[in-house]
Amino acid sequence: MIQNLRLYSGLTMFAYVLTHLLNHAAGIISPEFMETASAFSTGIWKFPPLEILLLVSLVTHFILATGRLTGRRSLRLRKSEWAQMILGLCIPFLLFRHIIATRIIDLGFDVESPYERVLLDLAVFLPSQGILQAITVIVVWTHGCIGIHFWLRVKPFYPKWRNLLGTLAILIPTLSLAGYGAAAAEIMRRVEEGGRKYVFGVLEAANVNDAAIAFYEKILIPCIILTIALAVAPFVVRQVRQTIDRVKRGPILNLPNGRTIRVPPGATALEALRDAGIAMASVCGGHGRCTTCRLHCGSGLDQLAQPGQIEAAALKSIQAPHGMRLACQIRPQNDLAVVPLMAPNASARDGRRPGGLSGSERQVVSMFIDLRDSTRLGEMKMPYDVLFILNQFFAEMTEALRSTGGYYAQFTGDGLMALYGHESDDTERMILNAFEGAAEMLRRIEGLNDHLKSELPHALRIGIG
Ligand code: FES
Repeated sequence: MIQNLRLYSGLTMFAYVLTHLLNHAAGIISPEFMETASAFSTGIWKFPPLEILLLVSLVTHFILATGRLTGRRSLRLRKSEWAQMILGLCIPFLLFRHIIATRIIDLGFDVESPYERVLLDLAVFLPSQGILQAITVIVVWTHGCIGIHFWLRVKPFYPKWRNLLGTLAILIPTLSLAGYGAAAAEIMRRVEEGGRKYVFGVLEAANVNDAAIAFYEKILIPCIILTIALAVAPFVVRQVRQTIDRVKRGPILNLPNGRTIRVPPGATALEALRDAGIAMASVCGGHGRCTTCRLHCGSGLDQLAQPGQIEAAALKSIQAPHGMRLACQIRPQNDLAVVPLMAPNASARDGRRPGGLSGSERQVVSMFIDLRDSTRLGEMKMPYDVLFILNQFFAEMTEALRSTGGYYAQFTGDGLMALYGHESDDTERMILNAFEGAAEMLRRIEGLNDHLKSELPHALRIGIG
């Protein structure tokens, strides 16, 4: 429910931003054309029900997004997740002046905000604000596009549309900034030509008055402080919560290799695993939509809370067998035995594969890949370096499997078990694929040795059986 609210409020705002940017693009022709076009684009958002919807969406989205950040027990996120979060937190600070200058003084002081007056502000009176607004366009748009990408990438149709949407994601803000720049240049030309007479004419027509200017100046500093506080507060609250959590002792996750991980109170299993340095797939960013964070839960499963609506729907869509849960959705309260079921670099397509544990009897080629001399490697390198090297090793092996039709069945400390033929009954083909897979692994190990030459005390070798 909450995730849906965040999604729908985000989509509402994205629709507004889209119409706004398209409207700016009309500035390529003239400021007057921008004004005319606004009746069919941004103008519709002044219709009271839509304006209320927009306002509610803005507040809802901000509260839910910062609430989520506050509740995060781990900040081990991918770069795109960090980018989305930081850009989102910057938006109130970047945008509030524009909202006050164009909407609040409209409503409170009867000032009108035609494009000509706004452009006069941004291009002539406050050029630094003009530049800031151009940056804001990029920040807001990028934040929205990352969110849309996270939402769509688990959809089966997305790969087909991805290039087109990517092109639009670049084209729309480019046209918008071009329109904004062209219209601003035209206003500057008019100021040069018409001088004070032109400037006062525009201001008078828009009813810019002293009370409105005084109000703007009065609330500027408090708003700067407030928006900075809003951006910083989630991190402060999170830090306080973490300090309190350190005093409490959370439950333990038991991994198949004997490793145990303590879960900070209230954290999801995904956060705990990632915090412990275990690479986990999470294509949808922990929203319970991709199922790439699947776990098999063993002892302790009966004490785990039942799946919520989102998790239940996701598990149903892949016909998950008993014991399978999503790491991003479970918050263990008691000790729990878990087995990650997907490779760290699993894709959205992998997430659509049904099942995970249930199976049928069939002939397969099983292959064991073992990293030789890993104990020596562990003795000669720092634990963090070993983890880094092992992650690279597993990523390369998984890629070799993927490119030759193989499937990892299990990861162990320094090796993995792979299967060929899990999706086909063609025995000859599966054997050939397995040989190709083995050759590809050897090729990739050579590449990895080259790539990590400076990190490795000795070349990596593998045994395949
Ligand atoms: S990360 Fe996508 S479902 Fe858990």
